[in-house]
Amino acid sequence: MTQPRLSLVDTDPAELAVDAIVIGLHSQPDEGGALLPAAGAESIAAAFDGKLTSTLALLGATGSPGEVTKLATLGTITAPLVVAVGLGDEPSGSAPAPETLRRGTGAVVRALAGSETVALALPVPDDADAPGVLRAILEGALLGSYRFAGYKTKPQPGRREPVSALQVHVPDAADEPARSEVSRASIVAAAVRQTRDWVNASPNNLRPPAFADAVVAAAEGTGLQVEVLDFDELKAGGYGGIVAVGQGSAAGPRLVKLSYTPAGVTDPKRVALVGKGITFDTGGISIKPAAGMWEMKSDMAGAAAVGATMLAVAALEPGIAVTGYLAMAENMPSGTAYRPGDVITMFNGKRVEVLNTDAEGRMVLADAIARACQDGTDYLFETSTLTGGQVISLGKRIAGVMGDPATCERVKAAGESVGEPAWPMPLPDEVRKGMESEIADICQTNSSMDRAGHMLQGGVFLREFVAEGVDWAHIDVAGPAFNSGEPSGYLTKGGTGVPVRTFLALIDDIAADSAPLRG
Ligand code: BES
Ligand code: MN
Ligand code: ZN
Repeated sequence: MTQPRLSLVDTDPAELAVDAIVIGLHSQPDEGGALLPAAGAESIAAAFDGKLTSTLALLGATGSPGEVTKLATLGTITAPLVVAVGLGDEPSGSAPAPETLRRGTGAVVRALAGSETVALALPVPDDADAPGVLRAILEGALLGSYRFAGYKTKPQPGRREPVSALQVHVPDAADEPARSEVSRASIVAAAVRQTRDWVNASPNNLRPPAFADAVVAAAEGTGLQVEVLDFDELKAGGYGGIVAVGQGSAAGPRLVKLSYTPAGVTDPKRVALVGKGITFDTGGISIKPAAGMWEMKSDMAGAAAVGATMLAVAALEPGIAVTGYLAMAENMPSGTAYRPGDVITMFNGKRVEVLNTDAEGRMVLADAIARACQDGTDYLFETSTLTGGQVISLGKRIAGVMGDPATCERVKAAGESVGEPAWPMPLPDEVRKGMESEIADICQTNSSMDRAGHMLQGGVFLREFVAEGVDWAHIDVAGPAFNSGEPSGYLTKGGTGVPVRTFLALIDDIAADSAPLRG
């Protein structure tokens, strides 16, 4: 579904002819929890003649983060509805934390499905913090309004459609930095929404050839350079890992490469992004239990995030070279499937002993990583729904990061800045020792099938395929990529779009480091 139209307004919110006006609401812990309208709500509060907070309190509002309270305005202001979103305790600085605003805005825009036009009169300060605060509000609104189009054959009577136009109140709607935040947020949110769409697609509708075609179609006209390797080309090219996983499916594997080269930059820094694109993971011959297996349609979330990030990169035009590698295969059990015990020669020549065909992600990623390193790169960020161990150790919201320590810290900081938390994990020697093979260079998992350090085994394995001198991190998003629970904040059900915004923050960060090179 298309993204809502977004515009800035700087006229009095009390006079906006929209279906609903959103204001922020704080609680004041020092005043016994008394409510306080957030900055931006002044004229609305004035129109209610001092009765706004008492009425909201009467309706049960407490100002807790993400709480939504709707109030009919009965002619006090132009809009028929005021909607208060809780923003937590009164902030000490000029505005609440960006993530509080991002979540609150997401929650309120989600709750306003069914309204066509909504104005947001939230606290956008008139100072140096303004761009970050505005960014959070815009992203939260655009992501919270996401809905997967789905496959229903009939229109749903009474279904409330997502908000179609958003007006965001700012001190000065003509301000250049504010206007560029609007275009950036539209690009970033479009990438996150594209990722969600691909993840939410049913697996029969997005097998590797169709997924590759969809990515190529999305990249058309963006200026990205595109290369697609099909099954025969992968075989001929020595991509043993991708071929092994892909050979069990009637829909062959693909490796999609998308490249962005900055104009007018000599010898730019190079970033490679690699994503796991298992369009469905049955486990293969080491088949998974039936319960919940359908969620393995999300096992291509890493590739979706990389592909969508590349679309955003093409639009944002950073001063560094960025290349995306999407390793696509369908992991099926069949008469042609790879099997436990197989020894596979990978793209970099290493030989891997397969012990469990359900550890397929690392097989396809190893080849894509090795290819990225052969092409040449300074940084390599790889993301995948790699292990159930990630969910066990860090839960559904915090990604596991493995790689060289400095790069892991960089990923953690980038994730924190955008509300996609990620936590560095070690790559212990004893885990590598446990993966020794008697007959090949390495086993794909622990040789005695010991699940200890499960998530770390994935990172340790992938390290074998990263070239010397490349700053790298592996981001395991098995939990964070897919929201199997209820919507919350700007996270809707299903695909979340993690870690697209982390990637974009990393690219900004690296581009800022090499900014003096741009000429
Ligand atoms: N795609 C799964 C990991 C996964 C689990 C993603 C839960 C999202 C939610 C992966 O391919 C897998 O099957 N991993 C195995 C590895 C094991 C066989 C070494 C796992 O986690 O059990
Ligand atoms: Mn698997
Ligand atoms: Zn998998």
